[in-house]
Amino acid sequence: LIYFDHNASTPVHPDVLAEMMPYLQSCYANPSSVHKQGRVAREAIDKAREQVAQLVNAHPSQVIFTSGGTEANNLAIKGSIRGMGISRLVTGATEHPSVRDVSNYFAASTELNVLSVDEQGLINIDELSRFSSSKIPTLISVMMANNETGVIQDIASIAARFKNDGHIFHTDAVQAAGKIKVDFGKLNVNLMSLSAHKIYGPKGIGALIFDKCIDLEPMMHGGGQEKKRRSGTENVAAIVGFGKAAELARLNIESNAQEIKNLQVYFEDQLQQLNGVVIFSEKANRLNNTTFFGLPGIDGETLLMQLDAQGVAVTSGSACASTSLAPSHVLMAMGVSEQIARSAIRVSFGLQNTKAEIDQLIYILKMQIEMISSLEILEF
Ligand SMILES: Cc1ncc(COP(=O)(O)O)c(C=O)c1O
Repeated sequence: LIYFDHNASTPVHPDVLAEMMPYLQSCYANPSSVHKQGRVAREAIDKAREQVAQLVNAHPSQVIFTSGGTEANNLAIKGSIRGMGISRLVTGATEHPSVRDVSNYFAASTELNVLSVDEQGLINIDELSRFSSSKIPTLISVMMANNETGVIQDIASIAARFKNDGHIFHTDAVQAAGKIKVDFGKLNVNLMSLSAHKIYGPKGIGALIFDKCIDLEPMMHGGGQEKKRRSGTENVAAIVGFGKAAELARLNIESNAQEIKNLQVYFEDQLQQLNGVVIFSEKANRLNNTTFFGLPGIDGETLLMQLDAQGVAVTSGSACASTSLAPSHVLMAMGVSEQIARSAIRVSFGLQNTKAEIDQLIYILKMQIEMISSLEILEF
């Protein structure tokens, strides 16, 4: 089996699993308990909080553990709208559904502005700039790296425009953190979402990094965990795993990025030779591990199923939207034609991939294209 779907999820790194195991087996106490075993669990959370903070150069007290990137995005948007009296929301057209849907949820009570993107997927800065000097309390949410195209927005310079205007800036860095260097302090943002399972950590754990001047209304009420910002008994093993994954990502960020870049270059050199191929956001600064492409005349869903039948896992768009037959909203926003968008396949590399696997993918792609073209000739 060949796995090229690391933007959807990554395997848990063996060192991460080893670090988690004691907290599933022997150190199972509740971290809020005052006895020794409870204190051991609490110390493990404290250590993980430091590791996650270090990945993005934040202070441990700025980390709120959540159940993943989706909850972090919800908490950032719902929490600051309700806690800070926000009456205007500005987001990008290519955001992940966990930002898009929560923004739409508020559209009845909050003015919602969706920024357009150019053909590379970069947000329209002129459209955004007109909100900067407004007196209306505004929350801006722009993702750092897109999960489909891998396109990286220059958040530091975009957010700098809002720094002195009293507006709140959130960035969804779920796909960026651990793959590129992220420095919360230098980004000029107030809120940032992270998720462990994109960086070889477990699923169901993430974090919201927050600037302490932001009053976040909690979504979960109860035992007052996470300094009352996210009640509920902490998922100690998952938090420990997130911490270890964050540490590994930080320590190896440069070598990992180079290794993955080599795979991407190797793949795209061969991909370019296929007739009519279009690599989306090709000219923009993109994540090293992501290649989203279209093959004119091919149906992406059919190709995905044929690759799947041969043991190769890719996706035809955002995994979170894979139950929907609508073409990717990201490609639509970039002005890609519906026909090309429907042919789109996303390949996202990870640390275990090899050039031999890429050769196999290219071989299967060539075979499928030939087969589909010959069927079309027969039909004709
Ligand atoms: C950009 C982005 N934001 C948020 C999420 C949601 O993260 P999680 O799966 O941890 O809820 C994802 C997951 O695919 C993502 O790619």
